[in-house]
Amino acid sequence: MSSKDEQQKDSSGWDYVWNPRTHEFLGRTATSWGLVLCFYLVFYLFLAGMFVFTMYVMLLTLDDFTPTIQDRLVTPGLMIRPRGEQLELRFSPENTETWDVYAQSLDAFLEPYNDIYQAQTNDDCVPDQFFIQEDSGEVRNHPKRSCQFNRTVLEECSGLQDRSYGYQSGQPCVLIKLNRVIGMLPGKEGLSPYVSCAGKREDGEKLGQLVYFPPNAAFNLMYYPYYGKRAQMNYTQPLVAVKFMNVTMNQELAVECVVVSNTLAPGEERDKFAGRVSFKLRVGDQ
Ligand SMILES: *[C@@H]1O[C@H](CO)[C@@H](O)[C@H](O)[C@H]1NC(C)=O
Ligand SMILES: *[C@@H]1O[C@H](CO)[C@@H](O)[C@H](O)[C@H]1NC(C)=O
Ligand SMILES: *[C@@H]1O[C@H](CO)[C@@H](O)[C@H](O)[C@H]1NC(C)=O
Repeated sequence: MSSKDEQQKDSSGWDYVWNPRTHEFLGRTATSWGLVLCFYLVFYLFLAGMFVFTMYVMLLTLDDFTPTIQDRLVTPGLMIRPRGEQLELRFSPENTETWDVYAQSLDAFLEPYNDIYQAQTNDDCVPDQFFIQEDSGEVRNHPKRSCQFNRTVLEECSGLQDRSYGYQSGQPCVLIKLNRVIGMLPGKEGLSPYVSCAGKREDGEKLGQLVYFPPNAAFNLMYYPYYGKRAQMNYTQPLVAVKFMNVTMNQELAVECVVVSNTLAPGEERDKFAGRVSFKLRVGDQ
């Protein structure tokens, strides 16, 4: 009995793969297999076509020089120099070591602002109006020029006469810059955005008198719009310096600087970085 039964079992097992009676391979006839393969071929060709088409359209809209999507705030933030640790500036005027690092970082930061360098690289632009250099159609207006920002504009905070930027006399300078946003036009009708600093809450009076350089505390309109690092490689970011003339000693003071403009929306409460920067200042006496 056994040998015949086993033979039958065997053949029925192989029948599943290849059934000679119905000419089915794995349960399908040749025609059925042909249709299935045909379907998948068309299906995958279609998917590949979709992919290629989508990439093509994407690449058409991409531009090497201006990002299509800007993941940035509508109202850009402000940043200070020197930054200190965690935006905290602590020093004692008598103790050179406590502020030397600030003076050095300002020296390095202001190096490209030297008047001679600015005269070599950038243009002497007409102030109080945008420096527009649009591309005309397909013809790129490259490379784009930038406007001079002379270090001497920062006067007492330029580090040229006072190498310590006021830190040695307890009247520290802090530089403020507006973060770059490509294409931003931060003002209209000839009115440039300007910086205003004050102490937070009860620190206002303890902060004493503030002096700005340039005196109008403005980022002149001629430095805008910014066209991006590649298109405008010599771009020099405008600065405003604020000098704290009579700070209350040995107290940690919370300072907030905001940018005021007739086009930028005032920083919203829920976004504490839009159009503002906060930092701590402590001038000690030992
Ligand atoms: C950038 O600066 C260099 C000198 O540092 C100058 O030769 C070049 O022309 C400048 N380019 C533009 C686009 O202003
Ligand atoms: C910058 O300084 C140079 C040389 O001192 C001067 O010719 C130029 O007018 C100044 N530019 C601005 C924008 O103040
Ligand atoms: C500096 O501030 C103190 C109070 O904090 C005040 O008494 C003094 O008159 C101020 N000095 C100047 C020059 O403003």
